Amino acid sequence: MAKSITVNGTAHQVDLPDDVPLLWVLRDALNMTGTKFGCGVAACGACTVHINGEAVRSCQMPLSDVDGDITTIEGLGTPDMMHKLQQAWVDHQVAQCGYCQSGQIMQAAALLETTPTPTDEDIDEAMAGNLCRCGTYPRIRAAIKDAAGLES
Ligand code: FES
Ligand code: FES
Repeated sequence: MAKSITVNGTAHQVDLPDDVPLLWVLRDALNMTGTKFGCGVAACGACTVHINGEAVRSCQMPLSDVDGDITTIEGLGTPDMMHKLQQAWVDHQVAQCGYCQSGQIMQAAALLETTPTPTDEDIDEAMAGNLCRCGTYPRIRAAIKDAAGLES
């Protein structure tokens, strides 16, 4: 039976098995490829999206469990009107290969929603589950602090 989900403010009817992970609903059914597949077992953070503002691993979220408004990296900002984190990411040239970065930004955005002026410890704790094989961690932290209006 088709299920209605709301992604970035737009309602979509998706007719897929209940156990299909949200990640593949977004990527394959809705063609929103900003959310990435890394590990598939909730261990890397590449697939992070928000549901009702909370960061979740979409690779381990069955469609049947989706309950709330979904925000993906495509809905966080636009090239003309970037989210403050996206602007900070550009300013600090955070990305290397870039693969993990949409998940990093979504995780950081959830952090700033609940903790607008995070300490280094807050950042480390919130971001610990988002892996970056290129080792961009120092620039990620600097960009988060910049977006929060804190000195790096
Ligand atoms: S792909 Fe979901 S946490 Fe790695
Ligand atoms: S920028 Fe390459 S994995 Fe993070």
